[in-house]
Amino acid sequence: MNNKIKKFTNKKNKSKIVCLTAYSKNIAEIIDNHVDAVLVGDSLGSVLYNYNTTRKVSLKTMLEHTKSVRMGVKKSLLIIDLPHNTYRNKSEALRNSKKAIVETKCDAVKIEGGSRIKEIVHHLVKNKIPVLGHIGITPQTVKGKFKSKGKSEVEKKRLIQDAKALEQNGAFAVVLECIHSDVSKIITNEIKIPTIGIGASRFCDGQVLVTDDILGLTDVKIKFIKKYANLKKVINSAVSKFKQDVKQKKYPTKKYSY
Ligand code: KIV
Repeated sequence: MNNKIKKFTNKKNKSKIVCLTAYSKNIAEIIDNHVDAVLVGDSLGSVLYNYNTTRKVSLKTMLEHTKSVRMGVKKSLLIIDLPHNTYRNKSEALRNSKKAIVETKCDAVKIEGGSRIKEIVHHLVKNKIPVLGHIGITPQTVKGKFKSKGKSEVEKKRLIQDAKALEQNGAFAVVLECIHSDVSKIITNEIKIPTIGIGASRFCDGQVLVTDDILGLTDVKIKFIKKYANLKKVINSAVSKFKQDVKQKKYPTKKYSY
């Protein structure tokens, strides 16, 4: 396990782990000062490209955005989400993970699934690819509406099994998405690797959210999303002032001219 990953996983039971998404250098540079990990999530499919599913996101797109983010990330762990059709079997997963790490210089890959993908996780880890797991709602395979997980006993048992399968096969941490609080609590207590929650309660070892959501750049209204700023308002105001200045010939003045 490399030092950056060790530092990240050592936080379990010591201090909460903070993660956010970034899709480009400028935002990455800002959040890098505050977080433990920056995730180039395939949520960029809906946030930036208006796709109705993350399944439409290509590896090429993920690589380009991760290269941009890499330029802004100096200290945090940088993780890339692998698109659904890039890890359908062990050799495909290894080939694409290596490509992602070599081309973008990211530190780890994130793949979705629990017991179903345990052999793939095992193969990647055996080949020195750090893997972040992702269970609960897994947007790459979700059918129909997004519904929280872990309400029924069957689901609860499966989620706990999934988390344990990821741990046993070498994942360094696991994202728990939209999982009922009591189940997240059990998983967090029963596995030694950190749990990173998104809509999965305060019991997780850390939290991740989509940066565009917390900054108020998107219009999504989901129970677990807390907005910390209204950047849409800030940008609107700046753009409107610029427009006014141009129209009223107040910009550019001498100060801004050669
Ligand atoms: O794609 C994404 O941004 C994610 C999250 C965990 C936020 O998978």
